Amino acid sequence: MLAGDLGRGIGVIGAGYVGLTLSVFLASKGVRTICVEKDEVKAGKIMRGVSPIHEQGLPELLQRVVRDGMLEARTEVGDMLERVDTVFITVGTPTGSDGAPDLTQVKEASRQVGEAMSTSRTATPLIVVKSTVPPGTTWHVVRPIIEEASGRACGDGFHLCVNPEFLREGSALQDTMNPDRIIIGAKHSEAAERLKKFYEALYHPSKIPTLVTTPANAELIKLATNAYLALKISFINLISQICEATEDGDVGVVAEGLGLDPRIGPLFLRAGLGFGGSCLPKDLRALRWFAASRGLDTSLFDAIIGINRAQRLRVVEKAESKLGGLAGKRVAVLGLAFKPGTDDVREAASLEIIRELLARGAEVRAHDPAALDNARQVIGESVIYCHRVEDCLNGADLAIIVTEWPEYAALDPSTLKSLMRNPLIIDGRRILNTRRLIEAGIRIHTVGLHNPSA
Ligand code: UGA
Repeated sequence: MLAGDLGRGIGVIGAGYVGLTLSVFLASKGVRTICVEKDEVKAGKIMRGVSPIHEQGLPELLQRVVRDGMLEARTEVGDMLERVDTVFITVGTPTGSDGAPDLTQVKEASRQVGEAMSTSRTATPLIVVKSTVPPGTTWHVVRPIIEEASGRACGDGFHLCVNPEFLREGSALQDTMNPDRIIIGAKHSEAAERLKKFYEALYHPSKIPTLVTTPANAELIKLATNAYLALKISFINLISQICEATEDGDVGVVAEGLGLDPRIGPLFLRAGLGFGGSCLPKDLRALRWFAASRGLDTSLFDAIIGINRAQRLRVVEKAESKLGGLAGKRVAVLGLAFKPGTDDVREAASLEIIRELLARGAEVRAHDPAALDNARQVIGESVIYCHRVEDCLNGADLAIIVTEWPEYAALDPSTLKSLMRNPLIIDGRRILNTRRLIEAGIRIHTVGLHNPSA
């Protein structure tokens, strides 16, 4: 159980990946947690102990904390401040029409917290902005909204911190339980100290490296981290294109060699079909927008985005040239989620690839172990969705591995050969054993590999 003081209870506004995982984790540690989610369907599911997202370990723990009465979900902030001392704002900040992050939900959450504070007897609640926002937002947007709605002054009637989140989808719970760092941004040392103490109690006895800084630095650390991860991916994807143009290049080996340099490190150097998801592309755009709005150079951000898109389109070009045109050809798309372990298709490579295949006249069949329903909502009925990978491959002229689900890596060459009309594979995620497939008489093009067979 907990050592130290975690206060009376915690409020969390927004039950996305960050908010829901945080809520469930806090509740599992014995903290009474109230999660506010304006989407009634989502809130209803949480109240019944049903996870609205596909995330390893979350359904079981959610069920337990709801049953134990440690987690409550509701649609309004209401009297929440009578029962909690700390409120985390974890609402979404999607990209707006001009590339700037849309802060509507952050503003709305700030106003609701401020209004709740105006009638609350809680002396100095701590408000923590975990949503990813551009530098300056917490101090210049969130603070004045809360001050105006509450009639209280920051640093006196309430405390305010920025505290970015670094969890990854697919391992959200694990990452929340074991963060690699804690970043706290605050103007007042008392505010930072309170959040620091909270985390010390929460993660006791382990000590997590903690950096206390200004709000703008904390906000920027989050955006810069995701932009840097995206940079690494686009860099290795550019190298993968160069590998394909060499006599015997293999980007996997090049990445391994690069990763041996401790100044570079081995992570996020997996070449493939680029980065997707709700964070890397969005945060990169937010940083680009911020730089552009201050008249700064955006060419590096533009290049990262451009390479990412080109990497996906290259696969379609390759498919077209291998099949001598795509019109009427049956293409099996294996994997729709933006990465394995999630049902999330936001900015997934699959969406762009499928759009392009359809535009060029291909008949597309798609499989994914988790994301079929979400993909259907985005793509619609122009694709045949298959629950079994065999149905997807049946009669196909080409199969493209778009998401590196382990079950695709385990596909048996003889099964592939017997099911497909034309045994040709584009391995966009580099998970298949190229040599084995060639030996079995299958033509394969692997991204980042000199491909004599295809
Ligand atoms: C990312 C960050 O990794 C988290 O630290 C951060 O908290 C989160 O965004 C966020 O801002 O909320 P996530 O979007 O879950 O997490 O996914 P990643 O694991 O970072 O993968 C992003 C994309 O990059 C995926 O499409 C993945 O396939 C791709 N990727 C990743 C590569 O193509 N190569 C790699 O080497 C690594």
